[in-house]
Amino acid sequence: MRGRIDDSGRIDLNFMADLHQFRTAGEEPLDCIYILQCSDTDPVGGLEFSAKERKALRAKAKALEPRGEEGELISGECPLDLAHRVTFVGVGDEKKLTHSKLRKVLNRVMRQATKNREYQIGLGVPVKVHGLSAAESRIFALREAAIADYTFDHFKSKKNEFEKIDGLHIFPLAKESEEDLEACLERVRLLRTSQQLARDLGNRPGNDLTPEAFATAAKEMAEEVSGLRVTILGIKELQKEKMGGIFGVSQGSVEEPRLIVIEHRPKKPKKSVVLVGKGVTFDSGGISLKPSAGMGWMKYDMCGGATVMGVMRAIADLDLPIKVVGLIPAVENLPSGTATRPGDVLTTASGKTVEVDNTDAEGRLILADALHFSARFNPDIVIDYATLTGACVVALGHEAAGVMGNDPELLDTLRKLGEGVGERVWPMPLYDEYLSYLKSEWADIKNSGSRPGGAVTAGIFLEQFVPEKVSWAHLDIAGVAYNEKEHNGLPKGASGFGVVLTVNFLEHLLK
Ligand code: BES
Ligand code: MN
Ligand code: ZN
Repeated sequence: MRGRIDDSGRIDLNFMADLHQFRTAGEEPLDCIYILQCSDTDPVGGLEFSAKERKALRAKAKALEPRGEEGELISGECPLDLAHRVTFVGVGDEKKLTHSKLRKVLNRVMRQATKNREYQIGLGVPVKVHGLSAAESRIFALREAAIADYTFDHFKSKKNEFEKIDGLHIFPLAKESEEDLEACLERVRLLRTSQQLARDLGNRPGNDLTPEAFATAAKEMAEEVSGLRVTILGIKELQKEKMGGIFGVSQGSVEEPRLIVIEHRPKKPKKSVVLVGKGVTFDSGGISLKPSAGMGWMKYDMCGGATVMGVMRAIADLDLPIKVVGLIPAVENLPSGTATRPGDVLTTASGKTVEVDNTDAEGRLILADALHFSARFNPDIVIDYATLTGACVVALGHEAAGVMGNDPELLDTLRKLGEGVGERVWPMPLYDEYLSYLKSEWADIKNSGSRPGGAVTAGIFLEQFVPEKVSWAHLDIAGVAYNEKEHNGLPKGASGFGVVLTVNFLEHLLK
């Protein structure tokens, strides 16, 4: 059965194809096997087949003459008992094989299989993304294949077209042991679940995923795994903490703000990390109202928070020996008679005062309180995730998140790891001079400057609230957290960006 959201706000994960390791004996034949092929290469050479199977497949390939050209899709009867049909899928020159090209091809495979009503399919991916190690590329390909049939149809009476694929059976690469492939698939399943959670949260509309429902989702998630503690700060607790930034943004909405705290505290932690995610469940801009065209996309303004949820889930599953705390300030930004006005001065939890120059620069106001609050957990490292500025989208488009911070080594690590997993982040500078753009006549700082340097002025604003002696990185994910149409094999809607990168980063800390 497919997932539903019930009255309590609980959301079950959508159905996606089961991931299996291909086993040679005793199973029903697969409907079709798909084998990816680079230009002018032997399509079966890189896969682990018996000599007999290889011979038969080679003969078939010879007859069908696939050349591995980009866009090529050539099918025939499968010469082996293990499947009815075989399809060779061209990916073009291996030296030009990028993350997005491979993702698009895998997407196409899943679509094709669905269209053909193939319930059980085999998949061989003996190709490597250029510039990645064999291991990185293997995991990337399997992850992308595993999540390629993702759709969000909780609110559709008629369910999605991908319903049909039940099982995805992965062929081992040449010399890949059963144990190695199984370990790979285990990891892929775990990451998929977390990424799927992040996407589902992102795709939920503002009337469904309110700050309170977000808090409920965090509690539900923690019940499903072990080793997480969730605490919700409501009005009273937020008042006690003097979180004037959070109150300032949320006061125009009838939806009460929440600060969601998710803790993973292992016995002997090797490091302490706080992850902060912007959780604006809908951003209308407030009194500085956004134009109505496209405003609906602002239901995605909580994607930073969704990323943090996904990471926390994965960390609990992996039981990493790192203290990791997720902080998600969840608010709705609406105009009303009680809303914050431009010109208002807010006192944030840190005691610093902020002149609200523009109520649409709300993300930084709630993050200011959350970043200040992070000190409570004595972090070595703080990373925040936020759909923070349109300026970052102008700068980098949809190909990379902007990364800023106070520790060049941390930024470099994130950049390198991002290349490896296909979640790219690109550094932007936080020169001292930018702080002068936010000089206020009336308060300690104002929340927006003029248009130039919009992504970095947001970053330097946040820096003012980062606790002392903490290594800090800010990821502006405005351009990558969601797509307005299918993009590079990523679906329309939430992408779950940052989950995989961050899990890899936390593991990297243990090396
Ligand atoms: N949530 C938006 C940023 C955004 C824009 C995310 C486009 C995704 C796509 C943010 O709250 C915002 O409105 N930022 C303003 C800041 C400005 C008023 C200083 C912006 O980018 O225009
Ligand atoms: Mn805004
Ligand atoms: Zn926003």
